[in-house]
Amino acid sequence: MIERDNEITSAKGKMADNKLDLALRPKTLAEYVGQADAKMNLTVSMTAAKKRKEPLEHVLFYGPPGLGKTTLANIIASEMGVSIKTTSGPAIEKQGDLASILTNLKENDILFIDEIHRLKTQIEEILYSAMEDYALDIIIGKGPAARSMRLELPRFTLIGATTKIGSLSAPLRDRFGHVYKLDFYSEEEIQQILKRSAILLEMKIEEKALTEIAQCSRRTPRIANRLLKRIRDFATVEEVSPITLKFTQKCLVTMGVDMLGLDKTDRQILLAIIEKFQGGPVGVNAIAAATSEEAETIEDLYEPYLLQIGFLDRTKRGRVVTENAYMHLEIKAPKKKNIEQKHLFN
Ligand SMILES: Nc1ncnc2c1ncn2[C@@H]1O[C@H](COP(=O)(O)OP(=O)(O)OP(=O)(O)O)[C@@H](O)[C@H]1O
Ligand SMILES: [Mg+2]
Repeated sequence: MIERDNEITSAKGKMADNKLDLALRPKTLAEYVGQADAKMNLTVSMTAAKKRKEPLEHVLFYGPPGLGKTTLANIIASEMGVSIKTTSGPAIEKQGDLASILTNLKENDILFIDEIHRLKTQIEEILYSAMEDYALDIIIGKGPAARSMRLELPRFTLIGATTKIGSLSAPLRDRFGHVYKLDFYSEEEIQQILKRSAILLEMKIEEKALTEIAQCSRRTPRIANRLLKRIRDFATVEEVSPITLKFTQKCLVTMGVDMLGLDKTDRQILLAIIEKFQGGPVGVNAIAAATSEEAETIEDLYEPYLLQIGFLDRTKRGRVVTENAYMHLEIKAPKKKNIEQKHLFN
């Protein structure tokens, strides 16, 4: 019997899971599947920077979670043969924190700031001269005795990542030489990622089973790998090898993942809009209150994919559930408003 997909809660289990994630993370651009545009441009710029013995221009990645921003930042560091220091917007509390990180970098090193849209304004401001002039302007003392001092910094590359490009201030955004949007992957690309992961995890699994997982992965590598790992757990417990399409389908049903990769929360969001707000339009805060999810989680994690597959529409007055979503949920759509019929992934 298959058990419910319980989150691994024990510290030991979590550690093992993190280790697997690290093992699955591609280490070179050649191993990194998809995102052809970013990959091509980065290859040219990295080759040029290496030839000139200069740091790569600052790079900004944006896009929904789990599409490979952190992975790309680490790949750039290893391809450039430099060290990478990783931090995140909310982790830098004081100007001094950033100053100490920056002064400890070596020439051409990479500073990776995840969730860069969450940097405090006063910290963002000292980043400007650091990015532009490789210098830190710091004020020493207070009141009339205060004076400004300029500290030279090593030439470094800042890589920023954000799920919310709209929340980034224009002056910060403009200081990046490269800005890349990471898109949802194609089903073929996800299948390719899964194939590689299955080999690394030493799994015997049918090609058709991988196609099925790819279909349910929300076109997101992190989710694809997560589903694969859970199916591997089921197979270990039940001593199933090779893993067939049928076994995979059974696991996916047990995990509450449907054909389009929608999970319980996605369905809960759609159902809340349909049942409590007559299909919308409704604001994200009202949806959050109705589903007990945080508005930010809905906006960052759930909404992008629902918009992508044409199950939600964003209008000036709020979110609207589309006809396709009604069909998928097997609910009769009310004959009202102008619910748009959309094609999947158009
Ligand atoms: N292009 C890719 N090819 C192969 N595997 C990938 C690719 N992109 C991501 N992955 C896998 O997906 C996982 C998630 O990627 P990553 O952590 O880089 O996402 P992210 O965009 O930084 O997400 P977040 O916004 O949540 O920080 C990685 O551990 C890696 O195994
Ligand atoms: Mg990340």
